[in-house]
Amino acid sequence: MSQPKPMVAGNWKMNGLKASVSELSALSKMLETSAAASCDVLVCPPFTMLASFSDQADAEIFIGAQDCHSAASGAHTGDISAEMIADAGATHIIVGHSERRADHDETSTQVAQKAAAAHRAGLTAIVCVGETEQERDEGKTVSIVLSQLADSLPPSSTASNIVIAYEPVWAIGTGRTPTTQDVAEVHAALRSALIDRFSEAGSSIAILYGGSVKPSNAHELMAVDNVNGALVGGASLKATDFNGIIDAYRDA
Ligand code: 13P
Repeated sequence: MSQPKPMVAGNWKMNGLKASVSELSALSKMLETSAAASCDVLVCPPFTMLASFSDQADAEIFIGAQDCHSAASGAHTGDISAEMIADAGATHIIVGHSERRADHDETSTQVAQKAAAAHRAGLTAIVCVGETEQERDEGKTVSIVLSQLADSLPPSSTASNIVIAYEPVWAIGTGRTPTTQDVAEVHAALRSALIDRFSEAGSSIAILYGGSVKPSNAHELMAVDNVNGALVGGASLKATDFNGIIDAYRDA
């Protein structure tokens, strides 16, 4: 059974202007001068910076988008297609982030259509799932994330064109994280659902944890069984912090 290649991914959300490319250059330098990390590194800036980041990024850094429309082109004012994202040089698209599910009422069915669009354009879809605090308090965490997973993966999914990100909504931007036992429980449930769906190949799909990951807790969280990397918000905006999280995948 092949092991997942871990990934540390930065989701810049609605942050960053042209000048922020300096953080990308700083990160490149840090990756060059630090010990090699046994993970892929991905930076997902806003759409406005996708092309410049892709031009600037060296081979060690993948560039991704944070959303896409499900159609390839057409009369959808203000939207961006997966084909445009691929054309800008990106390789990944985050779909179904809880902020999009909440701010834009995106359903898992729509998320699956967006993931299918990413696949149509030859890109990897990073499919996000996660429970709200109320759902956790009601003991529904595992059933919620498994139903989000089942409904958010399109038929075009394979073990090599998806990454899963588990992000408890209440842990995003709050400084709070689940216990390592709680993370292990959810990741184990996701892993067995992936094996049910993709057979053995399901063991090679990376399952990222996201929600208040920072350099000080990354080692502990990344050491949890079935955690194959991180999806990082706030701490991805500064190269030094992001590199400090990548340290979890460097030999001590
Ligand atoms: P924070 O790392 O800021 O909590 O955000 C997590 C997140 O939503 C990444 O997609």
